[in-house]
Parts: sequence; C-alpha cells; structure tokens
Amino acid sequence: MAIRYNESSRSFQLDTKAASYVIGVVDAEGFVGHAYFGKKLGEDDVTYLMRTGEGPYTPETNARDRLSFLDSFPMEYPTGGIGDFRESAIVVRSSGGHRALQLTLDSYEIFKGKKPLEGLPATWGSEEDTETLELVLTDKVLKVKAILSYSIFEGIDAVVRSVKLINESDAPVFIDRIMSASMDMDNRDYDKILLTGSWARERRIDRTPVNYGIQGMSSLRGEEGHQTHPFMALLDRTATEDAGDVYGVNLVYSGNFLTLADRGQFDTVRVMTGINPEGFCWKLNPGECFQAPEAVLVYSAEGLNGMSHAFHDLYREHLIRGQYRDRKRPILINNWEATYFNFNTEKLLDIARQASKLGIEMLVMDDGWFGNRFDDNRALGDWFVNEEKLPGGLKYLVDEVNKLGMKFGIWVEPEMISPDSELYRAHPDWAIQVPGRTAGLARNQLVLDMSRREVQDHVFDMIAGVLRSANIEYVKWDMNRPLSDLGSYSLSAERQGELYHRYVLGMYRLQERLTSEFPHILLENCSGGGARFDAGMLYYSPQIWCSDDTDAIERLAIQEGTALIYPLSAMGAHVSDCPNHTVGRTTPFETRGYVALAGTFGYELDVTKIPEADRNMIPEQVAMYHKYNDLVRTGDYYRVASYQQNHMYDCWMVVKKDRSEALVTFIQVMGRANAHSRRILLKGLCPDKTYRIEGEERTYLGSTLMQAGVLVGNLWGDFKGKLIHIVEA
Ligand code: DGJ
Repeated sequence: MAIRYNESSRSFQLDTKAASYVIGVVDAEGFVGHAYFGKKLGEDDVTYLMRTGEGPYTPETNARDRLSFLDSFPMEYPTGGIGDFRESAIVVRSSGGHRALQLTLDSYEIFKGKKPLEGLPATWGSEEDTETLELVLTDKVLKVKAILSYSIFEGIDAVVRSVKLINESDAPVFIDRIMSASMDMDNRDYDKILLTGSWARERRIDRTPVNYGIQGMSSLRGEEGHQTHPFMALLDRTATEDAGDVYGVNLVYSGNFLTLADRGQFDTVRVMTGINPEGFCWKLNPGECFQAPEAVLVYSAEGLNGMSHAFHDLYREHLIRGQYRDRKRPILINNWEATYFNFNTEKLLDIARQASKLGIEMLVMDDGWFGNRFDDNRALGDWFVNEEKLPGGLKYLVDEVNKLGMKFGIWVEPEMISPDSELYRAHPDWAIQVPGRTAGLARNQLVLDMSRREVQDHVFDMIAGVLRSANIEYVKWDMNRPLSDLGSYSLSAERQGELYHRYVLGMYRLQERLTSEFPHILLENCSGGGARFDAGMLYYSPQIWCSDDTDAIERLAIQEGTALIYPLSAMGAHVSDCPNHTVGRTTPFETRGYVALAGTFGYELDVTKIPEADRNMIPEQVAMYHKYNDLVRTGDYYRVASYQQNHMYDCWMVVKKDRSEALVTFIQVMGRANAHSRRILLKGLCPDKTYRIEGEERTYLGSTLMQAGVLVGNLWGDFKGKLIHIVEA
C-alpha cells in the first residue's frame, strides 16, 4: 500500500494490495483527470490514457477548443456550467444566480492515517494501515475550495473518497449538487449490477448491460429504501463470480442518494454516487464548509466474489465499531412474529423461561411496550412503559429475564411520532410537514423533524431514561416509514432544501450519542425490515435487520444480494415459525436454521407454541451456531450456486482466512425426481492442503475439492438443506 506523487508525469498513484488508481494533472491551469483504476501497475507513467494530446483539443495549444477538451477529458471531479456536458459531480450557484464552477489543483497532501468526516459515518484507519491523499482544488472566480480526499488500506483493494467544499468568498453560495465521487472509465462493454426490490423482497441482484445515456438508481424516500440501494457494480460483460474485472461503488450514507452511470459519445462511462440532488440545496455562508458523505470504490480482478471480499474486509476492519465488532452475538429470541402487539410480562416470561432452557441467550421485546401502543395506530413518541402490559415496569421484567440467565433487549422507533400521541399533542410542529397541507400518513405515523436539536435531545433523553431504568443490553432501532411532505418549522425558506440531509445528520448524531453513552449495548438497526441496510448505519450498529421476510427460501435471494456488499456478521437473520407469516410457505425447521446461520442467527417465534419436534431441534441449532459462528463472522464468503439463476438449488461457503476450515451450505429448493447427486466445485481452499470432510474417513487435496468437487446426494423433498464441514487434515 502506498501513495506517491510523480513530479515528471504530474500524477498521483495509489497502490493497494492488487490495484492501482492513477490521477493526472494537466495543462497550465491544473485540471485534474482520472487516468486509471484497475490491476496493479508498475512504475510506468499511464497519464497518456487521459488522451490530452489527441486532435486540436489540447487547451494549451488551442484555447478556443476548451469545450472540446471539457467534453471528453476524464475529469476526476467534473463541475457544472463550463462545458463538460456530461453529468456534473458538483453544481454551485453563486449569490448572483450563476451556475459555473471550474476546479483546478492548488495543492496536495499525502499523510498516514485518515481524518474522520465531521458528523458523518466513515471508514477509519490507523497510521500503520491507512494512507490518505488530499487534493485541494479551487475555483478562482467563486473563491470556493474543494478538498478531494482518497484513502487506501493495507491488504484491501478499495479506494474511499469524499469531498469537502469550503466557501472562502465573502458572499454565500448555494450547493445544488455535490456527488461524493465520480470516475470516468473507458468502456469495455460493461454490464452493471444494481440491487432492486420492495418491502420483504430487498436487494435482488439485477445485471444488465451498460447502455448509452444515463442509468442507475436513486432514492427520494429519505433513506435508501427497500426498493433501491446506493450501490452499482460495473463489470466486464464476461466477468463471472470468480473471474474478470469488477468495479463496485457504494455510498456510506443513509438518506436520499443517486448512483448513476453515463455512457457517452466516445464510449466512455462516467460513474458517480452521492446525495440525490433532487430536493437538495445547501446554503453555504462565507467561511462555512460542507462535508459530503464518503464513497467506496472497490476493484476486483477476481470477479464478484473478489469484490465482495474487498467490501466485507473493509467494512469489518475499517467501518464497524464497538465491542461487538469482533464478538459472537448473543442468540436472541424476538417476540414480534410470536405475539405482535398482544403480549404482557407473563407472556414474555413464558417465552423466556422456555427459551432459556433451550440455550437461547437474550429476549428482545419488540414493538408495543410503551404509551398507549395496543396497535400500530398510536403512541410513537411516548417512550414510557405501558404498565397495563408490563405491570411492575421494565425493571421487574428485565430482572426476571436476567434471573433466567438471559440478557434483555428492547425495540424503539425514535424518529417517529404518531398523531395520536402525547408528544404530538404537545408539539405538533415537531413533525415534518408542509404548512397548510395535510401530511401523508404511512402506518398511521409521521416523521419527527430530526434536523432540530431540541427534538433530537428530547428523544434522546426519553430513550436514555428507558435504557437506564433496567439492565438493557440490546436495542433494535426501527424506522417504519419513508419521509414525505418535506417541511420544517425551524428552517428558513432558503434552507428548506437542506431538510433531507439535516434529517440524516440529526439521526446520525442521535446514534452516535446512543452508542457512546451506552457502549455496552448491542445496537441493531432496522427499517420496516431492510430499508436501511447501508454502510452508513453499519458505522453505528454491527448488525442490521435484513428483511421482514423470514421465509428461508425468500431469504436466499435477500441474503445473497445483501452479502454482495455487506459481511455475513452484519445480516440480521432469524428462524421463524411456519407457515411463514409473509409468504405462507412451510419449510423444514432444520433448513430455516441453516439459512439463519449465514447471518447473526436468532429466533422470532413463540417457542411455547411451535411443534415439539421443532422445539427439540433448538439445542442442536444453538450448538451449530456456537460451532460455526466464528468462521461465518470472520471468514471469506463465496457464492457457489444461486437459486435465482438455476431455479433448483443454492449453495454458498465460508472459508477461514488461513484456509484451514470451510463450511458449505447447500439448499435444495426444489426436489427432483430420479436425480443423481449434484457435483459442486468448492472455492477458496488451498490447493496443496489436505482436507477432511467431517463424517468421512478419507482425505482430499484442496485442488481436488475445487476442481473435481464434491457430490451432494439428492435430498428427498423440497426446501431441504445440508451443511458440509471441511477441516484441514
Ligand atoms: C418492522 C420491523 O422490521 C419488525 O421486525 C418489527 O420490529 C416491526 N417493525 C414492529 O413494528
């Protein structure tokens, strides 16, 4: 890992483990261009790739053709209004109303380590394992400065970027658009992968060619949403799971985003990601700065699995924080699908008594414990215990649960307010709404104006009071509706365009307070299932609820799409009861366990009511979790076969970093008549090592397991699963 500046070629080269990223500076004015991102280079100068010498377009030799230059130059951070007619990364409006910005290099700095991003989640690193390049670009007319920051990490093929804009003039400017990263790539007939979906169908993989024009994904929901995701992969059309060039782009942000690719007239592709400019406008007063969120760019020469490894390693080692980052999480049982709103202390204790005997380690009390919350039409914001449901209060319940040897966790939804709540009756202006209009309800609730300090502080004090009132060791932070009817009673007219982003900053501030004042609490984020499973939230919580769909078969696709970017250690996954509450499907209890094992693992059912045979299987599943979770949490994950593609079966594996152990999970979705065994080629093992498959006498070379494979016998029935445990002999 190294960053160096080459004086003679006027270029910066960032070398990671196996990749290089090259930035060039051209012409007397100092335009900053993107020269290369790909397989690691030697010392050679590759700035010729910026093609500044082609045609009469060189600004130095023919200033009249500045527009031709700007129209094709691979700009590192393209600006709007001066003649680059492709998508702009940044558009700044002067106080005179003009939108023109020309950013050229002023200075640079290379240093060890990495600075935090004020108020925003971001990757972090030490002076030993992280290096940063900062390019300072200025517009000499507007007197604004942009600091482009690039960091690289030991052993990981990723470049993380961010942008900070500083107004050094004596008049305000307005930021209409500020992307976190932009990259101009030569087109090599790329495909793109986007993650699409809906509630209970999050993050489905969608691979299509990169066509001419603008394509991509965005959100205007105030969060990433179930439907869209701030991610795009660009990959060689021939790239597979294990071979070929893949570029992954992901935004460390939890609000409105835009991620796009723009294939243009010279067959180059401009890819960018950042805050969605729609609904965004930020007034920057003299002397103020604006920090845009961080974007992660990953390169893999080893197909999609290589891309996933880079994201997983980066997020596990340089994004997730807190005491649970590297620890096995307690096996929890959550009462949502067990009782919904219909519970009381006795019911919860019944569940806990039974669960504790089976080896389950924590009871999580979900929605419905506070205020007048007997259904989902009321009481959000009233964060005090409903004594009718919980006589004796929280302390009594938690103490009783603790006496059983179990931890206790609680559900909250801090960002919301029900019109039917004491909070709304006291502070109707705390809800986001447009004056004079009736704000649209979703799940009968409104959203609190988290841009306001007094709202943040009130919510924090209420929730902190609850957390201090008993021995609470886990919090599930939910968010069950998107933002709409954007209006804040506290922002001036010219600042209403800041509300979406200020909301996210307020929510981040609350999460930061919660995690720093209650460092012992395990935080799990959630949003109506998986609408906020993003890198921003991972900075605050080491795990996120993946989807409200707990059906083992639906989860194959949801978890496959999620694991394209995020480590298995972060994926909230539970065994639930059947028929499944979302799709009505009945699957074997055993299979539900195998699928949940690929995530955080827990239960979401009424353990006092499930079939006895299922209940009897829980101690075995608990033992399975304890046996494999270290491997699942820390190993390299490989997609082996996808049910989404073959419509028959699914298979993935996790390999220990030192290649001494692996766990293969095979799920036969559809049974097949008269079928022979399936031959599965394993991945990621050491070819020369000798391995044993647990339960077999003989040994195999790693090369045999990967090239000849293993045979998995036909399992009788649908939705059957099998684990194959491989250890070095
Ligand atoms: C949505 C979550 O995803 C569920 O798990 C549950 O907590 C409900 N909200 C409660 O309202």
